[in-house]
Amino acid sequence: MKAIVYQQYGSPDQLKIVDVPKPTPKDGEVLLKIYATSLNASDVEFLHGKPVYTRFMGLFKPRKQILGSDVAGIIEAVGSNVKNLKIGDAVFGDIFMHFGGLAEYCCAPETLLMVKPENISFIQAAAMPQAAIVPLQGLQKHQTKPKQKVLINGAGGGAGSFAVQLAKSYGAIVTAVDSIDKQEFMCSLGADFTINYKQQDFARNGQHYDLILDLVASRSAAEIKPALSPNGNYVLVGGDVPTILSILIKGFFASLNSDKKIGMLMHNYNVEDLAHMCALFDTGEALPIIDQVYPLKDATKAFKKLISGHVKGKLVIQIST
Ligand SMILES: NC(=O)c1ccc[n+]([C@@H]2O[C@H](COP(=O)([O-])OP(=O)(O)OC[C@H]3O[C@@H](n4cnc5c(N)ncnc54)[C@H](OP(=O)(O)O)[C@@H]3O)[C@@H](O)[C@H]2O)c1
Repeated sequence: MKAIVYQQYGSPDQLKIVDVPKPTPKDGEVLLKIYATSLNASDVEFLHGKPVYTRFMGLFKPRKQILGSDVAGIIEAVGSNVKNLKIGDAVFGDIFMHFGGLAEYCCAPETLLMVKPENISFIQAAAMPQAAIVPLQGLQKHQTKPKQKVLINGAGGGAGSFAVQLAKSYGAIVTAVDSIDKQEFMCSLGADFTINYKQQDFARNGQHYDLILDLVASRSAAEIKPALSPNGNYVLVGGDVPTILSILIKGFFASLNSDKKIGMLMHNYNVEDLAHMCALFDTGEALPIIDQVYPLKDATKAFKKLISGHVKGKLVIQIST
C-alpha cells in the first residue's frame, strides 16, 4: 500500500510517499481502508520531534513512521475480539498515539472508532475528531452558559473554528483572536468580536472574560489573570512548552485563594463526545470547516501550508474516493 513515511524528525521535506506492507489487525483492532485523514497541530509536533513529549515515540528517530490521527474509512478486516464493529462499516475517529492515518490502510482499536453517520462525508468526518473534541471538553468543563463572555485565542485554526461555533451554540458572547487574514472568517463562524493578535493584546485591552480558551498560549499567568472576570476560568489548551510549564506552576499558585482559576485541559478523547459532535452537525451548530483537500501524494504541501499558518479551519488528505 502507499503511505507517507518519515524516518527522521524534521521538516515536511522528510515526508516521502513509499510502498509499505499492509498492516494486519491485532486483538481488538480493525483494518481500515482510509478514505480521508485530517492534519492536526499534533502531526506537526510529531514530525518536528518537538516538543519533548513527542520523543516518547522514539528518542532519536520516530518509531511510528506514518503520521495521521483523525481518520475516516471503511472496515476491511477485523482482528479477534472485535465486538461492536464489522467489515463494511464506514467509521471515523481519532487514533492519536497509534497514528498511521497517512496511508491507504491502517489498523486501529475498535474502541477509538464510531460508525460514521451517512450525512457526514468521509472528508468532513476526518476533519472532526481531535479539532472538535478538544474545545468541546474545554467549554463543557466550565459549563459555558448563555451571555457568558468567552474568548478563544487561536480561533481561526482547526480547533478554534470548532471552538467559536460551539461557544456560540451555548449562547456565549464570543471574542475570537487570530491573525488579520482570519478576521472575516471568524465572523462567519459567529464570533461577536474579533481581535487581530498582532495589533491588540487581549490581556491588556481592559476587557474581562468569563472563560478564556487558549489554543496558542504565550502569556504568563500574571498577564492572564487581569483579563478574567470574577469567577473566570482560563483554560490552557496548547502553546509552547516553556509557557505551558510556567502557566501550570504559576497558574496553580495564582488560582489559590482566588476566584479566578488558571488551569490546563488534558483532552480525553472518547466516542461519546464524537457522537455529541455528530448531533451538533445535524443541527448545523458545529460544522467542520475545510480550507483545502489534498491527495495523499501532496501531503508534504499540506504540512507546509499548515505550518505557514494560513489555514482557515482544517486541511484534509483524501486517500480514496
Ligand atoms: N491539551 C490537549 O489535550 C490538546 C489536544 C490536542 C491539541 N492540542 C493543542 O491545541 C492547539 C490548537 O490546535 P489546532 O489544530 O487548532 O492548530 P492550528 O490549526 O494550527 O490553529 C492555530 C491558530 O492559532 C493562530 N495563532 C498563532 N499564533 C497566535 C497567537 N500568538 N495568538 C493568537 N492566535 C495565534 C494561528 O494563526 P496564524 O498562524 O495565522 O497566526 C492559527 O489560526 C495546538 O497547540 C495543539 O497542540 C491540545
